[in-house]
Amino acid sequence: MTGVTPGPWSIGNPEATPRPGLSHNGRMQTDEASPATPSYRVLFVCLGNICRSPTAHGVFEARVRQAGLAHLVQVDSAGTHGYHIGAPPDARSQQHALRRGYDLSGQRGRQLTAADFDQFDLVLAMDWDNLALAEQLCPPQHRRKLRRFAEFFQRFDHTVVPDPYAGGPAGFELVLDLVEDGSEGLLRHVRQQLEVGS
Ligand code: 4NP
Repeated sequence: MTGVTPGPWSIGNPEATPRPGLSHNGRMQTDEASPATPSYRVLFVCLGNICRSPTAHGVFEARVRQAGLAHLVQVDSAGTHGYHIGAPPDARSQQHALRRGYDLSGQRGRQLTAADFDQFDLVLAMDWDNLALAEQLCPPQHRRKLRRFAEFFQRFDHTVVPDPYAGGPAGFELVLDLVEDGSEGLLRHVRQQLEVGS
């Protein structure tokens, strides 16, 4: 699912011009001929890509926008399974998110692919199962890009974002609480990668 209008460096476009941006050490690169372009890419991964990862996608994208970094950071999400390809986020996820000001309605489900590990700088799994399945797809040279989103939590000591799909409203609220918390830590990390001050 996409939330940012792709540029000429677009994912999946074999005709795309090489993406200017990060050097080997992850730092922003620009030169006189190439203006700043999205240079750090984050992909959130859950099972179905209709509850947790779309929520993280929407919340983190809003944080990035508020921080004035939308031109530098691209955000997307995907599922380890293909059950909900092309579907909008779960109605419950949309309703809970909207109450906090996040509109997830434009997102559509898609499945994680091995190529995502070429395209993204950071692939963040919501739980251990998501991590294990993503690891099976991940080319060995990109293994360091694959992490748990919970590593970025600031206040919560949860190790995962629990799957809310089969539960009640409290599960969807917890997803939002965890995702908002993790987005703060993740934004700090991304700023460091881009060498952009706060
Ligand atoms: P998500 O939640 O992984 O957070 O999107 C789920 C959505 C759908 C299913 C399971 C979990 N499902 O089994 O269809």
